[in-house]
Amino acid sequence: MSRRIILDCDPGHDDAMAILLAHGTPEVTLSAITTVAGNHTLELTTLNALRVCTLAGISDVPVAAGCAAPLVRPLVTAPEIHGTTGLEGHAWEEPAARAVPDHAVDMIVDMVMASPGEITLVPIGPLTNIAVALRKEPRIAERVREVVMMGGSYTGGNVTAAAEFNVYVDPEAAAIVFGAPWPLTMIGLEVTRLAAAGETIFERIESLDSPVSRAVVGMLRFYQAQHLRETGVSDPPVHDPCAVACVARPELVPCREAYVEVELAGRLTTGMTVTDFRRRAGVPFDAKVGTGLHLDGFWDLFIDSLAPQAHRF
Ligand code: BDR
Ligand code: CA
Repeated sequence: MSRRIILDCDPGHDDAMAILLAHGTPEVTLSAITTVAGNHTLELTTLNALRVCTLAGISDVPVAAGCAAPLVRPLVTAPEIHGTTGLEGHAWEEPAARAVPDHAVDMIVDMVMASPGEITLVPIGPLTNIAVALRKEPRIAERVREVVMMGGSYTGGNVTAAAEFNVYVDPEAAAIVFGAPWPLTMIGLEVTRLAAAGETIFERIESLDSPVSRAVVGMLRFYQAQHLRETGVSDPPVHDPCAVACVARPELVPCREAYVEVELAGRLTTGMTVTDFRRRAGVPFDAKVGTGLHLDGFWDLFIDSLAPQAHRF
């Protein structure tokens, strides 16, 4: 049965691809898109989500804007990766729709409370909206089906040596999310760095030859150039679709149980997701952690998800 998800995102190039994957794969039903500040300001991440919806012909999914800043710290954005608009590399049309008036936090709470055991939350940006939703209505922890997030890592970060971007931007929110009594899967950099788009992937997407595929290639080329300049690595990791893939086809992402805690006070390590795979008396595991990715299956899923959209035009 298709899994209902709320995609909480900060588009962002890889967020845009996660929206397209969630829309285009039958294993997942996109019930709402909620936006948060992260890769760029809330204004731009919301505009970008709407732009992607227009591109893909997504007209029946509400887009709700959420928190404009982290819980405690000033917002850190990522223009060095995602450009000045957050989504450079394609000439975007004016969005066909506007965001709904509801706040993202209310939308998350209302949907989860109304459908016990049905909704999977898929946060792929900083965890501010999810943490505030938990504070507003702690019972969402019992009502949600599960949480599958892109963020964190157990072998080193990307913003700092220790911290991954989504957790680094709002570590206090991440600590709340990891501390809640709900089933949580962390899809961190160990998984998403494997989803590096090489030339064969570019060619496969290009060969779909549709407005959506051309936009994806344009975005990926921009993202590739930025990533190469920043890191010296040429094949850019398509982080956020990995979390959607884990919901759609869990067998693609091997996981292990662990105890994960977010570092909030490190001199060099704030935002680190300290991951303990050891079994220790009195410390129950509180998360599943992605440890790998079946690449052929992942890319087939992603590219197939773009194909039906190709036929809409
Ligand atoms: C995460 O950071 C953002 O820049 C990406 O969209 C992704 O969610 C990777 O660290
Ligand atoms: Ca993101």
